[in-house]
Amino acid sequence: MAETARLISRAADFRATLHAWYRGAARPLPWRTAPSLYKTVVSEFMLQQTQVKTVLPYFARWLETLPDFAALAAAPEAQVLKLWEGLGYYSRARNLHRLAQAIVAMPTPPRTPEGWRELPGVGPYTAAAIASIACNSPAAVVDGNVVRILARLTADDRAFKDGATAAKAFAELAQALISAEHPGDHNQAMMELGATVCVRQNPLCTVCPVFAFCAARQAGDPERYPRLAAKPTVAVSVTRVWCEHRGRLLLHRADAGARRLAAQHELPTAEQAGLAPAAVAKGELLAQRKRGITKYRITESIHRAAPKAVRDNPGSGLVWVPLAELDTITLSGPHRRWVGEILRAQA
Ligand code: ADE
Repeated sequence: MAETARLISRAADFRATLHAWYRGAARPLPWRTAPSLYKTVVSEFMLQQTQVKTVLPYFARWLETLPDFAALAAAPEAQVLKLWEGLGYYSRARNLHRLAQAIVAMPTPPRTPEGWRELPGVGPYTAAAIASIACNSPAAVVDGNVVRILARLTADDRAFKDGATAAKAFAELAQALISAEHPGDHNQAMMELGATVCVRQNPLCTVCPVFAFCAARQAGDPERYPRLAAKPTVAVSVTRVWCEHRGRLLLHRADAGARRLAAQHELPTAEQAGLAPAAVAKGELLAQRKRGITKYRITESIHRAAPKAVRDNPGSGLVWVPLAELDTITLSGPHRRWVGEILRAQA
C-alpha cells in the first residue's frame, strides 16, 4: 500500500517525533519510574485485558507483599490468588506464579521475545513488551491500540474479521517502525498514544504529536479506522441462589484448574445448587445485575432459596461459609460487590 510505504520511508523521523513526545508526555506509572525486570513482568501480566487505572492499586499492593521473583516463587498459591482477587482471569495469576518459579530456577532470565515465549502465560504481545522494555530487545508490540494507530496512520481500508487478524496484518509495519535504540520506550509510546490521544472515539488529533504522518487525519475521518467487524453478542440469563443458614452463606468454589475463576467463590447458580432455575426464580428476587464477559451479555438474577431445598452433595463444589469469614476467602470481583450489597440491604 502506498501509505504504508510512505510511512516506512519516514520511519526514522516518525520514531524520533514519537520518542520526543513520549519523554514529555508519559504518565509516571509505577512500573516506569525506577523500572525493574520484575515490575515489568508483573505490570504486563496485570495489564493483559485490564486498564491502567484498575491495575494501579493491585500493582502497589502486590509489590509491597511480594517484592521480587524469589518472594513470589515462594508464596503459597492461595496468597497469590487472594492478591489477584478482583482483577479477573485468574489463570494470569497462576501463570505469573509459575513463571516466577521458573525464573528463580534459571541461571539468568531470558532476554529475547522467543525466550520469554517459553514461560507460562507469555503470548506474543507480552513477550515483545517484556523483552523490549526490560531487555532492550527490538521487538514491536501489536495490540488493539497499536492496530488503531497504524490503521489510521496509513488509512488502511482493509476490513478485518477480528482484532487478532488485524494484529497479524500490522505486525510487519509495527516492526519496521520500531526504534533499535529505545524499543521499550517506543512500544510504551505507542501504547500511551493509543490510550491518551489516538483513542477509539473522538481522537485528539489537534494535539497528536504524529498528525503530520497520519493519512486518516488528512482525509478527515480517523474514526473510520480500523475497520473491524462488529462482534456478535449473545444474551444469557443466569439464575443464582442466595441461601443463608445459621450465619453461613452457601457459595460455589470453582475448580482450582478453572481458567477464569481458579478456586474463586461465587454465589451458586441454580444448577450448581441442584435446583431447577424456574423453581429458584419463584423465590424472592434480591438483586438483578447485568455484566459482559467476552461476547456474552449476561443478566444475573439472585433469588432467595430455602436451605432444605439445596443439594450440597460431596463433589458439588458447594461450601457453607460463615458470614464473618467472607473477607478471608477469595470471592470473584462482581460477586464480592453483590454479596456486600445484599447484606447491606438486609441489615
Ligand atoms: N499496557 C500494556 N503494557 C503497558 C505499559 N507498559 N504501560 C501502559 N499501558 C500498558
